[in-house]
Amino acid sequence: MKLLHLDSSALGANSVTRELSAAVVGRWQDAHAGLTVEYRDLDSNPIPHLTGRSLAQADAAEAADAAAVMQQFLDADVVVIGTPFYNFGIPSTLKAWIDRIAVAGKTFKYDENGPHGLAGGKRLIIVSGRGGIYGDASPADFQETYLRHVFGFLGITDIEIVRAEGVAYSEQHRTDALAAARASIPQPLREAA
Ligand SMILES: Cc1cc2nc3c(=O)[nH]c(=O)nc-3n(C[C@H](O)[C@H](O)[C@H](O)COP(=O)(O)O)c2cc1C
Repeated sequence: MKLLHLDSSALGANSVTRELSAAVVGRWQDAHAGLTVEYRDLDSNPIPHLTGRSLAQADAAEAADAAAVMQQFLDADVVVIGTPFYNFGIPSTLKAWIDRIAVAGKTFKYDENGPHGLAGGKRLIIVSGRGGIYGDASPADFQETYLRHVFGFLGITDIEIVRAEGVAYSEQHRTDALAAARASIPQPLREAA
């Protein structure tokens, strides 16, 4: 089993989502002895913005990294994404990664019946950190709702959220939000249906 772990917080050691995504991955490692974990820190090791030059594959090194990013995503059985809420959306570093894995013919296609996701069968855990409080259905949420939509478009339906929100309200809020998020980390192993 392969797990892909991504972080995108710019706050380094003070990051809520880095702490929680590591806890999620640790839970998986405890449950699966043979688990292979691949990690990319999109903050310290960012992917360039998608440009016309990227589409033309004008830069060989960039094109090679993009191909590796795609393959790493396709190979993963489980994907864990740490994502802060930045200006009502996701960090641009995470968007740059999504621009390399949402590729027609690879992870989705269109036919006469409309779009079809080609990247199904993965389990996705989104670790979400938010300064404010938005819950599940805020019209201001262009972070979790966007991620649910784009990965659903790619065919991924098994999506779980680990959320710490209200962390900017006070130290107590942050402590409580972290504890609640830790308690909500999904079980790696599920009962057979
Ligand atoms: C550049 C930036 C933009 C932010 N924008 C928002 C925002 O629009 N709404 C919000 O509730 N919190 C916002 N925050 C607060 C973060 O969502 C919060 O600090 C969260 O914990 C970030 O996750 P992290 O601790 O893993 O970095 C912002 C923080 C930064 C640094």
